Amino acid sequence: MADKFYITTPLYYVNASPHIGHSYTNIAADCLARYMRKRLGEKNVWFLTGTDEHGQKIQKAAEGAGLNPQEFADKTVLQFKNLWKGLNISYNDFIRTTEPRHVNIVHRVLEILYKKKQIYSAKYEGWYCTPCETFWTETQIEYQVCPDCKRPLEKISETNYFFKLSEHQQWLIEYIKNHPDFIKPASRYEEVLSFLRLNQLTDLCISRPKERLSWGIPLPFSPQHVTYVWFDALLNYISAVGEFDSKDKYNSRWWPADLHLIGKDILRQHAIYWPIMLHALQIELPRTIFAHGWWLIGESKMSKSRGNVVSPVEMANKYGVDVYRYFLLRDVPFGLDGNFSEEAIIRRLNSDLANDLGNLFYRTLTMIEKYYEGKIPPGKPKVKNSQADAIEEKIEGLDQKILTDLQPQQLNFSAALETIWQLINTANKYIEETKPWNLARQDKKEELRTFILVLVDVLRKVRDEILPFMPATASSVEGQLGEDKIKKGKPLFPRIQ
Ligand code: MSP
Repeated sequence: MADKFYITTPLYYVNASPHIGHSYTNIAADCLARYMRKRLGEKNVWFLTGTDEHGQKIQKAAEGAGLNPQEFADKTVLQFKNLWKGLNISYNDFIRTTEPRHVNIVHRVLEILYKKKQIYSAKYEGWYCTPCETFWTETQIEYQVCPDCKRPLEKISETNYFFKLSEHQQWLIEYIKNHPDFIKPASRYEEVLSFLRLNQLTDLCISRPKERLSWGIPLPFSPQHVTYVWFDALLNYISAVGEFDSKDKYNSRWWPADLHLIGKDILRQHAIYWPIMLHALQIELPRTIFAHGWWLIGESKMSKSRGNVVSPVEMANKYGVDVYRYFLLRDVPFGLDGNFSEEAIIRRLNSDLANDLGNLFYRTLTMIEKYYEGKIPPGKPKVKNSQADAIEEKIEGLDQKILTDLQPQQLNFSAALETIWQLINTANKYIEETKPWNLARQDKKEELRTFILVLVDVLRKVRDEILPFMPATASSVEGQLGEDKIKKGKPLFPRIQ
């Protein structure tokens, strides 16, 4: 295991308000960053998020709102920042692609690649999808509509700048073959590899003439053009954490990224364009790119036009931040798509949270109150019994299991939570089977003390383990279950009917 961990999220477009899809990636990244901070220490983890602010989408949205693009971006960025604050997202740095530190690096990269003849100009004739900002060749399209979004294409003829993707195709195939952990999960690895084997890459058009798109970073060698929004945005992962020296060598305390967390829709840009850009710059590649699935509403994608966009703010306000975090990470294995519904949140809330964890906590505190006047009995469990031993064993094995589930190549948040819940449920069963009120009645002092201490051990362990997933709940557990005294407060999770 490396001694540092650098994790990134995609930079979100600022053309619209954040929705649950965006919050999903950031909650997952936050959980992992918190987990890694526990393991490696605060100073050795760097968690980067931010916003993607150039390009057609934003220019159009700004026009629609009667603002200039920068003003418009400034407004939407606040929504993202407020959301991250509300959801307890503990990022170390927030980068905006309109910041000088980013623009400078983009310029530098363009200059380096131009000097290396990795960027050249050529006349471009073909089809352009304005909403997707993507070029298509005659052979890629049918009926003059965009293969991705199915909207009409525009015929275009203009001089543009191209990045030599095609030259590196064979290298990338070899690299991926030799690095089985580079793209995760395995299904996405296969997807990229077979795409590369079956398709000849064309060079990437990285410029847009200013008259067609003004909201972008101008090319240093042709101010009449601005950079393609993806070429610009991908570079944030290095612009945020390092610098080029006078010999064009990139230096950074954090690079290479240990994990780029992304959604499956932006896999190609991350697993094809980005590695080739880095390779051309002679910069090491990120260790793992992990593409998660999508949250769907019923069977369909969320979109403004369908009017089914779910607001994370609303969900968190209604059910609680930690309930929302728990639900997203628990309900669906990370690489797969999931169906979002409030009924599903309520089910998780009532059963896993209020019933399993909430009850265990409440019952334990109540017993400490009742039998020990609110003071946690000192010492270690003494009386041997098989159930208590089994629980202590489970506690001991927990770290290792979670370590396996949460390694960047696995990211099985759901399984990690399930493992924690097995411990919780075993403890609940222990209470039911021990019938502590009988121990008290029969004055079995040592048995009762052991029993309570085992439960306290469980709760302390659970508190530690849920911290990355539900930081506020962990601190509430900590506050109520003190070192030697309890301070019973509000129930952790009120049930919803
Ligand atoms: N700006 C680009 C990323 C540039 S990264 C250098 C972008 N932005 S985005 O705002 O459209 O999307 C950001 C992320 O949100 C993507 O990873 C995308 O997969 C994720 N999601 C958007 N909708 C989603 C769901 N419905 N469900 C889960 N995640 C989804 O793409």
